[in-house]
Amino acid sequence: MSYELEQQFCLDWITQDGHAEISSIRSDDPTPCADAPGLTAVDLFCGIGGFHIAAVQNGIDVTFASEIDKDAADCYEANLELKPHGDILHCKSEIPPHDILMAGFPCQPFSIMGKGNGLEDTAQGRLVFEVVEIAERLRPSAIVLENVKRFATHAQGKTMRSVIQPLERLDYDITPAILNALNFGLPQKRERTFIVALKKGAKPMPWPTPQGPPPSLSSILEEKVDARYYANPKIQADRRRDHQAKHKPAIWHENRIGLVNSHPYCCALRAGSSHNYLLVDGERRLTEREMLRLQGFPEPYMPTGRYGQTKKQAGNAVPVPVAAAVLAGVMEALK
Ligand SMILES: C[S@@+](CC[C@H](N)C(=O)[O-])C[C@H]1O[C@@H](n2cnc3c(N)ncnc32)[C@H](O)[C@@H]1O
Repeated sequence: MSYELEQQFCLDWITQDGHAEISSIRSDDPTPCADAPGLTAVDLFCGIGGFHIAAVQNGIDVTFASEIDKDAADCYEANLELKPHGDILHCKSEIPPHDILMAGFPCQPFSIMGKGNGLEDTAQGRLVFEVVEIAERLRPSAIVLENVKRFATHAQGKTMRSVIQPLERLDYDITPAILNALNFGLPQKRERTFIVALKKGAKPMPWPTPQGPPPSLSSILEEKVDARYYANPKIQADRRRDHQAKHKPAIWHENRIGLVNSHPYCCALRAGSSHNYLLVDGERRLTEREMLRLQGFPEPYMPTGRYGQTKKQAGNAVPVPVAAAVLAGVMEALK
């Protein structure tokens, strides 16, 4: 098995010089860095707050958030003591001046799991241009965007260029990178496109480099799990008939055409998937805590909704240690 620990950069805009100083950041350590210069950030399309936690870990103060989904917003508020505003289309005029704009904009139009309509998806696909409009008005020092890996190559790169070009016209230097959560201390293969825009005059973005092999699945699995998480006996028997695992513990993954595979790490959590597409050792679903751990949410973080809501929210979230490493790089560039 190859973990492909090499960081994967996309296209040729990438700068690889310099390393982010991320040794002081741990997903379970909410202590801000000592040298935090008192930056502020806003968290758009905030979900349950992966970016917010990563910002706090970097000593950045999050002053505004926006999230249309009430369950996610309630969870965010309960854990992070900031009440998200609702639909970005209705609250954008209330966004205060800030240093860093963080936005994990909706990914469904660009995802291989969605219809792939991209920017033509008038409901979700064009929301990223709200970010461009907000940047034009408020001119933050840095913008950090996150989306699925495929965003970088959607429509042969035209989709990403149509976001980057208007930001370049606003005098930002922009670099995208594809980062994998497996390289940042999480046993989850989750590759995501990050785009960092820095106002001209900042240093080049020092993209973080891989942190070494991922921890074992045992580090995130709970020891005692309630019977309700177990798949029914027929599903378990079908899985065992179709697949023999080489590892234990392993997460068994059923792909879109029903093929089952297993790995000593978890495939990407997804918001809109069937309940049984990931089964621990082919037997049981992940618990809410395990899903949050797979995304690097610290232990005190409490899910507030039903199982299905937490599954959707965790599947949508940005992996905290990856976001923290990117923000550490941004802070270095802004120094
Ligand atoms: C990919 S998720 C971002 C998750 C977030 N980064 C986290 O760590 O949890 C995109 C989010 O955008 C929200 N969203 C979609 N349309 C929105 C809108 N018009 N205004 C505000 N939020 C919106 C969705 O409900 C979803 O939670």
